[in-house]
Amino acid sequence: MAHRSDLIAADIDEYLAQHQRKGLLRFITCGSVDDGKSTLIGRMLYESHMVFEDHLTALAIDSKRVGTQGDDLDFALLLDGLQAEREQGITIDVAYRFFSTDKRTFIVADTPGHEQYTRNMVTGASTADVAVLLVDARKGVLTQTRRHSYLVHLLGIRTAVLAVNKMDLIDYDESVFAAIVADYRSFAAQIGLTDITPIPISALRGDNLVKPSAATPWYRGPSLFEFLEDVDVADRSTDVPFRMPVQLVSRPTSDFRGLMGTVVAGVVRPGDPVRIAPSGRTSTVERVVTMDGDRPAARSGESITITLTDEIDASRGDVICASADPVEVADQFECTVVWMADEALLPGRPYRIKLATRTVGATFGQPKHKVNVNTLEHLAARTLGVNDIGVINVALDRPIPFEPYASSRDLGGFIIIDRETNATLGAGLIHFSLRRSQNVHLQAVEVDRVARRSLNAHGSAMVWLTGLSGSGKSTIANEVERRLYALGVHTYLLDGDNVRHGLNRDLGFTPADRVENIRRVAEVGRLMVDAGLVVIAAFISPYRAERALARSLFDDGEFIEVHVDVPVDVAEQRDPKGLYRKARTGQLANFTGIDSPYEVPEHPDLHIDTTQMSADEAAELIIRSLRERQIIG
Ligand code: ADX
Repeated sequence: MAHRSDLIAADIDEYLAQHQRKGLLRFITCGSVDDGKSTLIGRMLYESHMVFEDHLTALAIDSKRVGTQGDDLDFALLLDGLQAEREQGITIDVAYRFFSTDKRTFIVADTPGHEQYTRNMVTGASTADVAVLLVDARKGVLTQTRRHSYLVHLLGIRTAVLAVNKMDLIDYDESVFAAIVADYRSFAAQIGLTDITPIPISALRGDNLVKPSAATPWYRGPSLFEFLEDVDVADRSTDVPFRMPVQLVSRPTSDFRGLMGTVVAGVVRPGDPVRIAPSGRTSTVERVVTMDGDRPAARSGESITITLTDEIDASRGDVICASADPVEVADQFECTVVWMADEALLPGRPYRIKLATRTVGATFGQPKHKVNVNTLEHLAARTLGVNDIGVINVALDRPIPFEPYASSRDLGGFIIIDRETNATLGAGLIHFSLRRSQNVHLQAVEVDRVARRSLNAHGSAMVWLTGLSGSGKSTIANEVERRLYALGVHTYLLDGDNVRHGLNRDLGFTPADRVENIRRVAEVGRLMVDAGLVVIAAFISPYRAERALARSLFDDGEFIEVHVDVPVDVAEQRDPKGLYRKARTGQLANFTGIDSPYEVPEHPDLHIDTTQMSADEAAELIIRSLRERQIIG
């Protein structure tokens, strides 16, 4: 069954192409190194003769040196060797290993079993058809097995192998195997994973890997290789309507305009009527072009360039779809989020999400619940921490084309990205769009801000004071408002302590509450600026992300960020409300500057050092800035 070909050396592309035609199975192995995962994958590569000669030689030497397996080859070392190689390069979390038998080509996503495993599992499982869940026969089903199974099912894998490994260490005892299988099935049934093939194996000895083992005469099912070669994962993605997210618009010459991308579902042919989402414009496919020239058709998985009969607008992130059966377009969804970052997901904080080829701004609501993957219980949650899985609503800053994850992994799955660092923070799976986003429309109003401003005879703006407690924000804000009043300017002062007595009475000082505090204040401030007022907001507002969110609600030049700067030790000496002392003596938790961070503004519009400048001088500076911006006369 193993496959070896001279083509590998002669023409690797042709070799891969031949194998592509043979039928491809993508699978993921789940389990920790202790479960024997490295040994299993190492042996699969070896059995299919996909181990390179130099690796084999090194393996024989290493195996003798390490001596864990006598004169036998230690397959775990093979994997460790590949791993080391990988670690020298760019750090990637998932290694895709390629091997092949006479019947099929395989890509196995090898996800390291360390504590970052959720991220790796999500990445690996999102493209796999089958999961091989490894269990140590001596330990049975563990928390980790349940967690992996839950994730695998969540990410759309419907076929699983329960590989009960290390059977040699329990003397190939059928009853132990049967008990583990029964235990696992009862858990798996609860999450809806029913297509399970249990196989008793020894990755080390090779039992039931390639052919049935004499050591388990009681087992009549397939060997692992037999199963993987024969399992039916017929690619149904060609029976569905055509979809292709646009990766790039190419214009090599003025008379050629091609839309490049990878077909994620269905088939496309010249002459097909298509629709571009989200614009909804329709056209007809003129040509389907690949690297090898024009083609009569292209199907799911192929990278192509499409030209249309009309010069209609389409850009990166749009989805070209079958005209009669287009994708949906919406800007609010319910989804499941798998959170992977150490810092928690904060409702209301602005993030970015990337779905297919489109990146947009997004904020999440409060989680509806999170899931305890061991008991499958739904738990109440205000945020999602690292490795949490929860159901949550998301609102985007513009509508996007999508499909539910259950119908399309490509158009229903997204990643969540930090706006500042671009780090991947989590993954999301769309359940459905929220109807309220279709039923709630902005109303046009007759009297607008321009009209209100002319009545007032001055402009409106938001002066946002940020800084530590005790920096002098409230004093300066008061002085600014007093002067504006004297000038006949309509104003309103929003102050942290005051707002927290009313509108934000329900909020404390956890990161999640501070995010919500600032979100509400920014929204209220926006209404007030719309109403024609000069608004002065004095809030610690310790996070850059929320200050950026506040700024994003206003027009250019209408938002003036003022950093009221003071070294924390000076603020602590002033301690006007005695709060620093309480924080130092442990009577007050999460106090900014002591045990809660303050992220210093990088580019404030005004910087006020209150150790150098009096409140009067600071107020004067702000008034001058309002004049320069022609907000006041
Ligand atoms: S913010 O961080 O959410 O922007 P905000 O400006 O509304 O804070 O409120 C800060 C005020 O609340 C402080 O001036 C202080 O009087 C009071 N306060 C009470 N507990 C805390 C705390 N743990 N951290 C900071 N301020 C606190």
